[in-house]
Order: sequence, then structure tokens, then C-alpha cells
Amino acid sequence: MQTANTRLLPFTECISSSRPQWRQVLRVVTWFILLMVASSSTWADSLQVLHWWKSTSEHKAVDFLASKLAQENIVWRDAVIPSGSGVSAGIVLKSRVLFGNAPEVAQLNGVLIGEWAELGLLLEFDAVGSNNKWDKILFPSVWALTQSKAHVVAAPLGIHRINTLFVNRKLFKKYDLALPETWDEFEIAAKKLQQAGVVPLAQSSEPWQLATLFETLVLSEAGAGFYNDIFVKKEQSGFLDPRFGQALKRFRSMKKWMAAPVQDRSWNELARQFADGGAAMMVMGDWVKAELNAWGLATDVGFACMAVPQTENYHLYDIDTLVMLAGDGSHKAAQEKLAQIVLSPAVQGDYNQIKGSVPVLRNPDMSKMDSCARTSWKLFARGSAAQVPSLAHRMATDEISKDAIIAEIYRFFMDDQITVSDTQRRLGAIARSLKKT
Ligand code: BGC
Repeated sequence: MQTANTRLLPFTECISSSRPQWRQVLRVVTWFILLMVASSSTWADSLQVLHWWKSTSEHKAVDFLASKLAQENIVWRDAVIPSGSGVSAGIVLKSRVLFGNAPEVAQLNGVLIGEWAELGLLLEFDAVGSNNKWDKILFPSVWALTQSKAHVVAAPLGIHRINTLFVNRKLFKKYDLALPETWDEFEIAAKKLQQAGVVPLAQSSEPWQLATLFETLVLSEAGAGFYNDIFVKKEQSGFLDPRFGQALKRFRSMKKWMAAPVQDRSWNELARQFADGGAAMMVMGDWVKAELNAWGLATDVGFACMAVPQTENYHLYDIDTLVMLAGDGSHKAAQEKLAQIVLSPAVQGDYNQIKGSVPVLRNPDMSKMDSCARTSWKLFARGSAAQVPSLAHRMATDEISKDAIIAEIYRFFMDDQITVSDTQRRLGAIARSLKKT
């Protein structure tokens, strides 16, 4: 797109060659014209977008999307509510909708999309979906997520993998450690690191970050079928099962590999600690990869991106998605344009490279992916046998159930006096009362 400045460049250049008395006049005229052009270059529309992305890489991803929207003459008005995994952003969004002050666009992930659509809060944009063949280009599970009652209500951006173990290569090399593929190998490495004075595992006590670790442990302990029984179907018997007890035990036993006491720190502060060699490993979604890359640490060189031990056949996923709030319909054209931009193959390739996620497309540009992204995309492409919805990141169940489960997991982790069987019983009772009959 040609800007006002570039269009006026030849004119401003000729000023320097004019006589001094004319220079001043020409300068004034130039500024006047510039002012006129600037004020007349009206934007087609503007969209306020509510999201929670504030870290270096998240910010870059937002800037990228805003620049694509600007090319269509639409302004991205940023309404960022910084909060890891969107905890506060979700609260602010709800209250804004309740008070009749909804933004035009919001980041809304997982199960919430269907719930909000059922309440009639979301714009339906079926024509964008059909004109761009979303039913053919999207992964089937992603296509299902974008629809409610056969209407298209969401524009998916990218797929994150949660069961990711990041390993600081420099430290592992320094202490001559093997990359841990099993829990035994993990324990051996952790012990040696601790003896050397290095914190083996970076971890925060923020409830959603604890839940992110815990759900990978459940998957590792008992596999996808069991994981779905408890976190998706909320089977009481699952929470009482010894395998769930085992996952709780491992969760608590991993405390010894974390800095004591475990503090409430943002995920990107922890990534910084990991990048600086203050911690050797980190379990977190692959947005951490994007952050490390943005700070100059290359995948496979500065760090290894692996599956959490014994989860290599699973893709514990979280899909970042934009929804368009219905409002009075006056922004419909701009909202539809944004939905269309988000799923264009070129934007999918570049955006996901910046964000650390992978395209939601069945046939993406693989050249934009590093080894970590390729593994993630290929695994997700295997379909339902590999795909497991994240509890902590809203893909598995509704908000109330998720929050109730996370609260118990948090209590268990923070208070060593609470026993495994108590927690199992409490969660079992919660499951029984939450399960839809
Ligand atoms: C989102 C990511 C985000 C992360 C940290 C996740 O729930 O899906 O896009 O980077 O939270 O805030």
C-alpha cells in the first residue's frame, strides 16, 4: 500500500533545488498538503480486539495481524488484558459484554466458543467459511470447533502443543546429561543438576501453570482414553482410580525439582530464567519456543523442544481462536475481512512461525516450520487418536468445571498436608455434581 509520505516524496525533493525565498513557501504548502492527505486518508473501519497477548513474541504476533488488517484499510484497536492463558482477559470480556460494551473481536478459545454462540453473542459468517472452503482446508476437529449449530462463528489462528518439555542445551551439555525421554531419565538428570546447584525445573505456582503441568502428568500416566474420561466426560470413577492417584503423587514429587518455595511468576519470567541458565527444564505450551526464538535462542541450538516423557504419541492441544461479537452489525464487513485474513495460507504460515503454534490447515507451508513445529503439526494431523484437548487451556470442558478442578489441583500442590486420597475424593464429588445427566 502506498502511504501519504511516499506519494509526496518527489515533491519534497524538488524543494531543496528551489531558490531560498520559494523554499519557505513550498515548505508551508508541502506541510499543508501532507496534513490534508493525512486527514483525508480515511480508514474503512476499525475493530477493537480484546486479547491477552503481551509477551515479546505474543506482541509480535499481534503486530503482524494488525499490519495485515491495515493493508485492508482497517485499524486494529488493541484492547490487551495481559494475563497468562487469558484468566483476566476472560473476566474483562464477560463484564464488558454484560455492560453492553463488547469489543468487535475477542480471543476466545475452546468450549467457550460454542457456549457464547448459543447465547447469540457471536456473529455468524458462513459466507467467509464457504467462499474460502474452510470445510476442506481446515483439520476436521478445528472445523468442528469453528461452528455452532452448523454456522461458522470463529476464526482459528493456530494450534499450540501443551505437552512440551523444553531443555536448556547448554546446561545439559555442561553436565553431560542425556535428553530425558522417560521419567527415569528425567529423574537422573534432575538429580545431577540439583547437585550442581541448578534448578532442574522452572515452575510457577499460578494455578493455570500448575494445571498445565498436571494435565501432562495425567496423560503420561494413563493415556488419552483415561484423560478424556476424567477431564472431558468428568467420570467420577476416573478421579477415584489409582492411576489418577499416581499422577497426583508424581505431581507432588516433582516439587523437589523446583525452586523452593515455588513462586507466583508469569510464564515468560520463567522462560527468561530458563533462557539465562537459571533453570534447566520447563514444561509449558510451545508459545515458550516463540519467546525463546524472539530473544535470539534458536530451536535445537539453544534449547531442545521435546515431548513430556511418555506423551510423545499425543498432541495435548490448545487452539487460539478469534470470535466476532455480534453487536449492531455495523462492523460486519471488517469483521468478516479479519476472519478471512486469519485463514489465508500466507498469514497462517507467518503468524504461526512468530507465535510458536502451527497452522490449522491440512496443507500448510511446511517450509516455515522448525523441527518442533513439524513434529507438532504431523502429530496433530494424525487425527483423533493423537489429539487430546487441554483442560487448563479450555479445550476439554466448560469454564466452571475447569476452574473447580484447577482449584483442587492447586490446593493439593500448595498444601502438603492434603493427601492424595482426599483430593481424589473431593474431585470425585465435584465430578459427580458437575456431570451433565
Ligand atoms: C494461549 C497462548 C498464550 C498462552 C500464554 C494460552 O492459553 O493459547 O496463545 O500464548 O496462553 O498466555
